[in-house]
Amino acid sequence: MAGNSNLHISRAAKTDEFYTQLSTVEDELRHYREYFRGKVIFCNADDPAYGEDGYDHFGDGLGGYTSNFFRYFQLNFEKLEIKKLIATHYDPNKPTYKLELTERQDTNGEITRLDVVKTPLKQNGDFRSPECLELLHECDVIITNPPFSLMKEYLPLLVKSGKQFIVLGNTNHITLKEITGYFLNSQCWLGYVSGHFWFRVPDYYEIKDTDFKIDDSGQKWRRMGNCCWFTNIDIPKRHEKLDLFKKYSPEQYPVYDDFDAIECGTIKEIPLDYFGVIGVPITYMAYHCREQFEITDLVTPKFGGKLKYKRLFIKRVGNDAK
Ligand SMILES: C[S@@+](CC[C@H](N)C(=O)[O-])C[C@H]1O[C@@H](n2cnc3c(N)ncnc32)[C@H](O)[C@@H]1O
Repeated sequence: MAGNSNLHISRAAKTDEFYTQLSTVEDELRHYREYFRGKVIFCNADDPAYGEDGYDHFGDGLGGYTSNFFRYFQLNFEKLEIKKLIATHYDPNKPTYKLELTERQDTNGEITRLDVVKTPLKQNGDFRSPECLELLHECDVIITNPPFSLMKEYLPLLVKSGKQFIVLGNTNHITLKEITGYFLNSQCWLGYVSGHFWFRVPDYYEIKDTDFKIDDSGQKWRRMGNCCWFTNIDIPKRHEKLDLFKKYSPEQYPVYDDFDAIECGTIKEIPLDYFGVIGVPITYMAYHCREQFEITDLVTPKFGGKLKYKRLFIKRVGNDAK
């Protein structure tokens, strides 16, 4: 298990320890079922320290020691006709292990899954370690909730690998200079579900505000805002245009002090009949359709003499008001 039990892990590493619920995984991945057929799936930050409940549901001896990503694919292995599932486990201080689940064809050609095979790794399961990079090159799709503190290294590594991916992130990650370009160049976009998600957290988490709770079993939970999924799979949602209904007027849409663009503070107020550059909140990414708008920049414009929040600058594709 990762260094969760290790009291000396760094502050950043501590904030990386939050565990995805099975329902969160299901809500997003149900949209991609057709993409998993015949694929090798790799969960490369699968530290499972707090599985669903630590109970050995499947009698496979793994108890709660798998993440809910692994669980999701384990439960749906045959239905999704997955070729292979691999998960690597991370511990900053020592060699860890990988779990694998492989297909087997019975005499009727039916696909059944082999039991989970646990193999030691020579290294510590770091997604950047040679062993894990080798697995990354062997796989077709990478799916996990990665360490947020390393997102600026993690996402570029996935994009550059040329592999498909579906990973959990936060809309603020889009503003990281190492990452913004991938969104502007359509190398990465948002999946289906976004918003505030609840995650299990280790005991050492301090209850600070309303975004924390302890359930009846004593398990601590943390709610994280602006969660979203990053993917490069060409999902239908990506081609669905936003319904626009507001008419442009110069009074309602003032321009920035330092950019030739209008300010539009909410997505539903994007005007249907404006063809210049429009500044919108980063949450727009969840609705982006490149057949409708192009994204020209991500900047912090000045507005009324003050710096505004970061804004995505978008511009209509074509000139018909629809
Ligand atoms: C946000 S947690 C999610 C864990 C699990 N994937 C889940 O969804 O429940 C990210 C995990 O990545 C692990 N991690 C941290 N640094 C890592 C690294 N360099 N390589 C691989 N995993 C790492 C952490 O131990 C942490 O448990």
